[in-house]
Amino acid sequence: MAEKKVTELFGKSAAETYDERFSKTRAIKDNLHLLIRLILDGLPSQASILCVGVGTGDDIIGLADAFPAWTFTGVDPSVHMLEVCRKRLQEHSLLSRCELVHGYLDDIPEEPRFDAVLCLLVTQFVKDAAARREMFKGMSERLKPGGCLINSEISDDMDSPEFQDMAEVWKAMHRFTGASAQKAQGVIQALRDHVAVEPPSVIEGYLRESGLALPVQFFQSLLIRAWYSRKSPGADTLAGK
Ligand SMILES: C[S@@+](CC[C@H](N)C(=O)[O-])C[C@H]1O[C@@H](n2cnc3c(N)ncnc32)[C@H](O)[C@@H]1O
Repeated sequence: MAEKKVTELFGKSAAETYDERFSKTRAIKDNLHLLIRLILDGLPSQASILCVGVGTGDDIIGLADAFPAWTFTGVDPSVHMLEVCRKRLQEHSLLSRCELVHGYLDDIPEEPRFDAVLCLLVTQFVKDAAARREMFKGMSERLKPGGCLINSEISDDMDSPEFQDMAEVWKAMHRFTGASAQKAQGVIQALRDHVAVEPPSVIEGYLRESGLALPVQFFQSLLIRAWYSRKSPGADTLAGK
């Protein structure tokens, strides 16, 4: 199957139905967001947060409610996801605390000005390994010393027997969310076609190479894993420079 661009994967109809489609597995996301909130609890009261691949705004909304003086920058290449995001932020009266940028990480100035960078379920769509490595480096570079990167992605060893077993549960999850039997049957092939699924050790390697010495995996729900990594408080130079 031909590889789809992310802007096709997250086109108008995908964006408008995104929240509804995943509402049945909302508990997974809620768990992830609860833990993120606890991990970031010690940030300054006026913290500035970058959300890479902000999607429809979930990355921002819970944190903004919990930490009323934090401000957010969300960047996303899908104009349709951003449109839904903007609408939701408006509904939550959060727009004045947020800047939304249509584009990629490169469109955010390469300065260490964020207390935290969130990149949730995004990097797996960057299939080229060199580009993924650059993306982790770019996120690390935009963190203040002492700041925290939180990344989640679909990560597993697709050649392992455990993966073969869990693939069946992954299909069942898609059935549960309302996918047809045929579509659910194709989800593993879709991962192979459209997503870069790499083992946790590889992701942790990218994080270390980006200058974040101690990636901590704090979350796993089936194939979705998440890490937090703190930038050394003494890191006053850009990673790798
Ligand atoms: C699965 S959604 C996740 C959205 C949100 N982070 C969440 O957890 O609900 C992936 C998002 O990443 C965006 N995206 C894909 N590739 C990207 C890239 N290279 N840089 C930034 N965002 C990207 C997509 O447009 C989409 O909005």
